Amino acid sequence: MSKFITLEGIDGAGKSTHLGWLASLLRSRGKSVVVTREPGGTRLGEGLRELLLDSDQAMHPETEALLMFAARREHLDKIILPALDRGDWVLSDRFTDASFAYQGGGRGLAMEKLDKLEHWVQGEFQPDLTLYFDVTVELGRQRIDAIKPADRFEAEQDEFFGRVRNAYLERARRFPRRISVIDANQTLEEVKESVEKIILSFC
Ligand code: TYD
Repeated sequence: MSKFITLEGIDGAGKSTHLGWLASLLRSRGKSVVVTREPGGTRLGEGLRELLLDSDQAMHPETEALLMFAARREHLDKIILPALDRGDWVLSDRFTDASFAYQGGGRGLAMEKLDKLEHWVQGEFQPDLTLYFDVTVELGRQRIDAIKPADRFEAEQDEFFGRVRNAYLERARRFPRRISVIDANQTLEEVKESVEKIILSFC
């Protein structure tokens, strides 16, 4: 049966690193897997991603939230729902929890407004499983600085990421059956083992 799995975490948490081998693990167990990401996943969504991540593109926080959900609407329609209908497994690098964490926690938008957008765009639809990679803001920062020039979100201050992390942890407490918290301060190997355990018990 198809499953929708999302990966979440603050920038530098390491989720994108784990996405690749996770897809291979599922494929080795006979699953047909679609790997995708947000914002993005479709041509329109990738165009919106470029605007959203561009450090020179200032925007109102509500514009940011609306564009995230616009990209998501398209992503659901063109990629996620058709793949699940075919019986595929879908692994998405971020989904709606990121909007609650970044636009709600980070930017301070009212959660009720995000609840409305969520309901509008996806009704009751939710991931079957969300892996939340939890790291301290300091470690996340070290990992981003090591990779590439900062995008519009990565350029934010540590206080911003502190609020994003708290919002993720709050959601994990609120939806404990869907969201698994992984201690991503450990070594990559240890994180991999934790993820493997969760996934294999879920397959
Ligand atoms: P990210 O997933 O970290 O990709 P990369 O590893 O290539 O930098 O980048 C996406 C950014 O978009 C990230 O900083 C979080 C942000 N984001 C939101 O603010 N709200 C959302 O709803 C989503 C999906 C992402």
